Amino acid sequence: MLVEPTIAGVRRWREAQPGSVGLVPTMGFLHAGHLSLVARARAENARLCASIFVNPTQFGPREDLSTYPRDMEGDLAQLERAGVDLVFTPDAVTMYPPDFDTWVEPGAIATLLEGAARPGHFRGVATVVLKLFTITRPDRAYFGQKDAQQLRVIQRMVADLDVPVAIVPLPIVREPDGLAMSSRNAYLSPAERQAALVLSRALALAQSRWQAGETDAAALRQAVCELIAAEPLAQTDYVSVADGEGLTELERAAPGALLSLAVRFGKTRLIDNVVLGESL
Ligand code: PAF
Repeated sequence: MLVEPTIAGVRRWREAQPGSVGLVPTMGFLHAGHLSLVARARAENARLCASIFVNPTQFGPREDLSTYPRDMEGDLAQLERAGVDLVFTPDAVTMYPPDFDTWVEPGAIATLLEGAARPGHFRGVATVVLKLFTITRPDRAYFGQKDAQQLRVIQRMVADLDVPVAIVPLPIVREPDGLAMSSRNAYLSPAERQAALVLSRALALAQSRWQAGETDAAALRQAVCELIAAEPLAQTDYVSVADGEGLTELERAAPGALLSLAVRFGKTRLIDNVVLGESL
C-alpha cells in the first residue's frame, strides 16, 4: 500500500492505473462504517484509493477541529489489511495553500438541518470532496448514509457540475446495541454512551409508528422528541421528517422520507437517521 501526501504523487499513481479506481474519502479514526465502504469499493474496482484528511474548512470556529480524534498509524494498518492500494494523506497547506480562494457553494439543500446548525459546513465538505475527486479522478466514490445530508449535497454537486464519478451510498453501520458508528462516539463518557442509545430507540419508535399507519409528520417528530426528552443526558438540536431528496420538511410522511435528528450528549453532538420504509 502506498501512502502519498502529495497531489503530484497521487496524480502519477492515478495515471498509471488502467482499470477502474474507487475512492473512499475519510477524516480518519476509522471504524466499521468506514471499513464497510472500503470493502464494497474493494469489490467493485480494480484499484482502491482512500484519503485521510481532517478537513479544517468544514468545522465551525467553535467546533471540534483541534480535538477531532486521530490515529494515522492505526488507520493505515486497517486500510492495508482491507486491501487499499493508495492512501492520500495531505496536510492542510497541500489542500489549502495560502492563496486558496475558490469554493463550492452548495445551494438550498445545504441551508437546512446540519447546514442551518453548522453554517459553512457543507461549503467546506463540497469544496474538499470536489478537490479529492479532481486529484484522484475516481470512477466511483463511496459515502455512508449516516451523513445523509452530506450524501445528498455531494450527489447534487456531482449532478450540477457534471463531475464524472458514480456516487455509491452505503447503509449506516451500527454497534450491536444500535448506536450508529461515528468517530465522535469516542468523545462520549460511559454514561453518555449509554444515554446515546436513545437515538436508535427513537428512530425505531418512529419507524414502527409509521409502519402502523401514522403518517402525520408532526406526530412522528413529537414522538421522537418526547422519547429523547425523557433521557436526562440528551439535548435535542432538531428532529426532522423531510422529503428524501430535497430534505424539505413534510406534513405527510411518505415512503422514502428521511427521519433525521441531531442530539447533544454533554459536549458531543451526534446525528442519526432512518429512511421510512427501510430497515434501521
Ligand atoms: O464524511 C466525512 O468523513 C467527511 O465529511 C469527508 C466526506 C471525508 C469530507 O471531509
